[in-house]
Amino acid sequence: MSTPIIAIDGPAGSGKSTVARALAHALGWSFLDTGAMYRAVTCEALARGLDVHDHEALAQLAAHIRINTLPRVSVDGRDVEDDLRSDAVNAAVSVVAANPKVRETMVGRQREFAALQEHGTVVEGRDITTVVFPNATLKVFLTASLEERARRRDDESEHSVARRDEADYSRSASPLRQADDALVLDTTGRTIDDVVGEIIQCLKNTDS
Ligand code: DC
Repeated sequence: MSTPIIAIDGPAGSGKSTVARALAHALGWSFLDTGAMYRAVTCEALARGLDVHDHEALAQLAAHIRINTLPRVSVDGRDVEDDLRSDAVNAAVSVVAANPKVRETMVGRQREFAALQEHGTVVEGRDITTVVFPNATLKVFLTASLEERARRRDDESEHSVARRDEADYSRSASPLRQADDALVLDTTGRTIDDVVGEIIQCLKNTDS
């Protein structure tokens, strides 16, 4: 029998990373940050001097490197955690994440990861509830007001967050979408514990 999966999606600044991490901790399950996987591919491409717009080169790279996300993010055993959020990676990662072949490889690995976990997996990312795990035990879509999301990204303006939303919702490869049967939670003004508690309650209701 397969182990349970909670899939968490939502726009930038909705709190998905923080909530997913805290939820995994509270349940004693594994946590998978899929954005970190796209960031790791990007990091490695930049380290090798590849052009991130070269779709075929990026597809080959993604297929041949080994990415671990726990306990820290590494590529072929080299720790890249501290480079994941550099300006260079921030600027290039959306190009890499839009590459359909890179996505195909990453999605396969995400499914493999979840299948290997003993207790369960909390996984977060842009296409997790719609594409990667449409049959997850529980699907959660987090939102928050634009004002709060901009504040959480501390140096990002509302205008810039709104622009990113537009790009995320309208891109052709796996656009951000809310699954029809997802639990939609607005995290504006709520604490992490409060949101985690509501998701755990909902999981219990799903079980019974
Ligand atoms: O969540 P993040 O900022 O670390 O994600 C990094 C990039 O990867 C961002 O451009 C969104 C993209 N991404 C994706 O396309 N699919 C995922 N499952 C996770 C992240």
